Amino acid sequence: MREGDARGQRLRKLRESLEEIEQDAALRDPARYVDRVQATELLELEFEGGLAEDDSAAARALVDRAMAVRRELEDVDEAIVSELRERIRTQRCAEAELMERLRRICDESSARWPNAFYGHGDFFANALLGFEPAALERVAAEVEENERAGRNPEQVFYQATPVRQVLELIDRARVTADDVVFDLGAGIGKVAMLVNLLTGAKVVGVEIERAYSDYARARVEALGLRGVELRTQDARTARYDDATVVFMYHPFTGRLLDEVLERLRQQAERRPLRIGTLGRITFTLAQQSWLQPVGTDALGEHRAAVFAGRR
Ligand SMILES: C[S@@+](CC[C@H](N)C(=O)[O-])C[C@H]1O[C@@H](n2cnc3c(N)ncnc32)[C@H](O)[C@@H]1O
Repeated sequence: MREGDARGQRLRKLRESLEEIEQDAALRDPARYVDRVQATELLELEFEGGLAEDDSAAARALVDRAMAVRRELEDVDEAIVSELRERIRTQRCAEAELMERLRRICDESSARWPNAFYGHGDFFANALLGFEPAALERVAAEVEENERAGRNPEQVFYQATPVRQVLELIDRARVTADDVVFDLGAGIGKVAMLVNLLTGAKVVGVEIERAYSDYARARVEALGLRGVELRTQDARTARYDDATVVFMYHPFTGRLLDEVLERLRQQAERRPLRIGTLGRITFTLAQQSWLQPVGTDALGEHRAAVFAGRR
């Protein structure tokens, strides 16, 4: 095929994709979040990537049209998120409504990307919680700088819990508004804020890195979440007297983990305590004689698990 023919064919295909998206008026329906993200990604990938080398007037006009549609779709989601944030700030957003919305996004996302670790629920939650990529990069750079000064190798670096796993943990641990939930190794507060928003439970995030917990605290304040507290603290020295549920997404290992588990064991002797886990830490908890798994599902590194203290 000659170069000119190939270019012509690519332009035709891109024009067809664009027209399909432009004509799908229902894409502006607030409920079609996942479809909008997919369309936006297609526009970015096909149009910016596919036409990068082509500076003909026809190609430029097509890119301009595609970018205008992308902006229009992004505006729909920005409006949804800012309306929701305002309702959260003024306490007019019910937990059940938010739960249903996130569940639907996560289910649709899993149906399309069954093996993906993160999904559309995470894109939506990041926007809702006010996590901004540029600010996060600055925070991560600050933490890295501190780490150069020496980090306990038993402390695991920050990685966010996927939203669908947060939903799973909430379900399996049966978290309600009466619970006091601790997230050990709270990072930038994703789990802490989501659990509070989705259940009404009081949540305490314990995070050793000040840059992360300061960032989390600022996001909590911006949303006016009175039920979320961030403590800049080593989980070994935190007080767990009022905890009813503890979440841990593989935050630490070795002796550090042993020390924290011993403190939790003492709490579990006094009252019912549930511990939700994700990551390799699940296997360490499965070996604790004072804990028993809740439910009969097989344990796995990438599956949320919940344990309860034996009493
Ligand atoms: C895998 S991340 C989990 C992040 C968070 N739970 C979430 O899902 O968004 C582990 C976090 O544990 C923190 N961490 C490691 N050791 C800690 C300790 N001794 N006490 C408190 N936090 C710790 C790390 O700084 C990191 O932010």
